[in-house]
Amino acid sequence: MKKEKEETNIKNSSLITHCSSLLIKDGRIIDPSSNLDEITDILIENGKITRIGKIQESKQKDLEMINAKGMIVVPGLIDMHVHLREPGYEYKETIKTGTSAARAGGFTALCCMPNTNPVNDSRSVTEFILDRTVKEGSTYVFPIGAISKGLKGEELSEMADLVEAGCVAFSDDGKSVTDSELMRRAMEYARALGAPIISHCEDTNLSRGGVMNEGFVSTELGLQGIPNSAEEVIVSRDLLLAEITGVKLHIAHVSTKGSVRLIKEAKERGIGVTAETCPHYFLLTDNEVRGYDSDAKVNPPLRTEEDIEAIRQGLKDGTIDVIATDHAPHNISEKLVEFDYAPFGIVGLETALSLSLKLVEWGVLTINELIEKMTANPARILGLKKGLLSIGSDADITIIDMNQEVTVDPMKFKSKGRNTPFKGAKLKGLPIITILRGKT
Ligand code: DOR
Repeated sequence: MKKEKEETNIKNSSLITHCSSLLIKDGRIIDPSSNLDEITDILIENGKITRIGKIQESKQKDLEMINAKGMIVVPGLIDMHVHLREPGYEYKETIKTGTSAARAGGFTALCCMPNTNPVNDSRSVTEFILDRTVKEGSTYVFPIGAISKGLKGEELSEMADLVEAGCVAFSDDGKSVTDSELMRRAMEYARALGAPIISHCEDTNLSRGGVMNEGFVSTELGLQGIPNSAEEVIVSRDLLLAEITGVKLHIAHVSTKGSVRLIKEAKERGIGVTAETCPHYFLLTDNEVRGYDSDAKVNPPLRTEEDIEAIRQGLKDGTIDVIATDHAPHNISEKLVEFDYAPFGIVGLETALSLSLKLVEWGVLTINELIEKMTANPARILGLKKGLLSIGSDADITIIDMNQEVTVDPMKFKSKGRNTPFKGAKLKGLPIITILRGKT
């Protein structure tokens, strides 16, 4: 398993040409994996970090230099939940446009979900994704293999084969695995393979026909609701199954107060569970749906103030380990229909960092805690040698200017997707340089 992951990295790395040496000078360097938080320099040679610490003036002469004074310098961000749409839905996004969007958003690595066409349930699809990344990608891509063949929830995919080909986790994301026996077996195999199961938790009997959160707003708008319990029933089931199988379970896109409580209790009982949420779940409520804006249609749906509060608390107390985007691009024409018929999904790669910095502004997280949830934690969950700044590691680095302001303009996105409810939002704090293996 470990060997395969490294090979994936090496394969991916061949797309980058290095500049021989680069000095990042006087930045505030934050590396949560080593508890580093210091104003100093980073020297990069041949794509690797070779020194963290002050470089003497006399030795700086011949180096290409970035003056990072007043900037924050962190490990390249990792997004463990992205829909790249290729193969099959290239009109929504491609590996090329999706990874460019990621790079623009400060990410140097991402995991892509298997709900493509064909589904990533076999070695050939995984190999296609990795090959395309080598040819056209701007970041590392770590594919996630399907739990079930065709995401049909009937038969397990060739899980061992997928890991061998380079998949780093398993998920049927976009759909829940409804058959509990199948999920149990998937967990048993995943455990043996050392890979996490990323669970999209949704009881489809409870959510059927729903297009937004069930509550006051859905009643007022006359739209069919999805109750919190649709998520929580499957979170409970998967926690129980994780307990009996010993799998590493990761709960995707947590949206409800009840899920936070269940995950917290499970962690306290020693169950091997981790969790992620996305900026829209700690910033927006179902009020966004008023006006029937289909860009606010997402699954799970935007919830209530009470849920947002619990998610922020879950981020603060460590119940929620990761901030991911669930970047889900759709074509403009698909979203330009009646709310009921629009597909679920919000794009996030180019806004995630600036939006998440709100948590720092409000004192919910320290900058170090935020960066940990976007670097070291996803790397640890997936077993990747990424998300850290250490001597000899790949020089994947993001430089953040906390004072830059931006108004979200989806027409300027590198992503093909424009579907964001944050359009027009004024944000502060931007990734200004994203370095991948020493290349800016
Ligand atoms: O809103 C969503 N869109 N949620 C998912 O789980 C899947 C995703 C997609 O693939 O569009």
